Amino acid sequence: MSYPLVSLPVAATPYAEKVEGLFWAVTGVCTLVTLGIAVAMTYFCFRYRSGAEVDRTLPDLAAGKSRSRRIEATWIAVPFAFFLIFFAWGAKLYYVYDDPPDNALQIFVTAKQWMWKVEHADGRREINELHVPVDQPVKLVMTSQDVIHDFYVPAFREKRDILPGRYTVLWFEPTLAGVYPLRCDEFCGTGHSMMTGRVYVMSREAYSRWLASGSQAPSLARLGFDRFRELGCSGCHGPSSRIHAPSLAGVYGQMVPLSDGSFVRFDDGYIRDSILQPARQIAAGYSNDMPPFAGRVSEQDLLELTAYIRSLANTSPDVPQGNHLQ
Ligand code: CUA
Repeated sequence: MSYPLVSLPVAATPYAEKVEGLFWAVTGVCTLVTLGIAVAMTYFCFRYRSGAEVDRTLPDLAAGKSRSRRIEATWIAVPFAFFLIFFAWGAKLYYVYDDPPDNALQIFVTAKQWMWKVEHADGRREINELHVPVDQPVKLVMTSQDVIHDFYVPAFREKRDILPGRYTVLWFEPTLAGVYPLRCDEFCGTGHSMMTGRVYVMSREAYSRWLASGSQAPSLARLGFDRFRELGCSGCHGPSSRIHAPSLAGVYGQMVPLSDGSFVRFDDGYIRDSILQPARQIAAGYSNDMPPFAGRVSEQDLLELTAYIRSLANTSPDVPQGNHLQ
């Protein structure tokens, strides 16, 4: 959509158009209220100016009451109703924004002062650029190597903070091919304003060509499998291990029981926490035998290990691990 007097970046997703709808509704209502108050103020300034011959008593006050409850109640109820509408409208949009679809293409983003590093599941890497296919939900799993950054694509009307020490997720489904600016939207140091990039939304054919044209690096999961052995994880979590450790096959995405009786979703965040600080959430039926890896593994190691463990989602515990990877 285009509007007279204002120019907004193109809306490249259906979600962006919905956000814009809410934005214009809030802006419109606020403008009308502001105009109404300005007109009323101007009118009353003249009508009730000093020396004007007018009746200055409200009907309620004339009837002997000390205040006008009707006016007060109206002034509370009407704005309250508008705020509730905006709240429900915004909450509905937020739930969509916070709930990536299961078929989303997962891509990893690592932010650092002052660049964006992007890794695709097949091992393709890029810097300050993100290539995605059109009409496909894309889920970014993001973390920072240093301070807080914020991944912001104005054309998608979406942004999310990127924090050191944890994963945050942003998803979108672009329906309009094009090249869109990417910005860091959290002041992150002297190079913050230069921390920009581009998102390339391409047709499926162009995207396949782009993927195939990259260097034939091993996939993240493949690298993760190597890391899994180097760090000794396979010694305990492997299928033939004699040490009592939970199998990682077939559990990704499931709710798993913990020793304190609670349940947790076995997702990227849980994998990350369990590698770094395993003592915090122990799987039910197991003891705390795993050493913490905090300080011993890099963000890159974590991404690779997580990709490997995710790749086990549809495997069974007795399949020798790693065989499902190319
Ligand atoms: Cu990164 Cu601002």
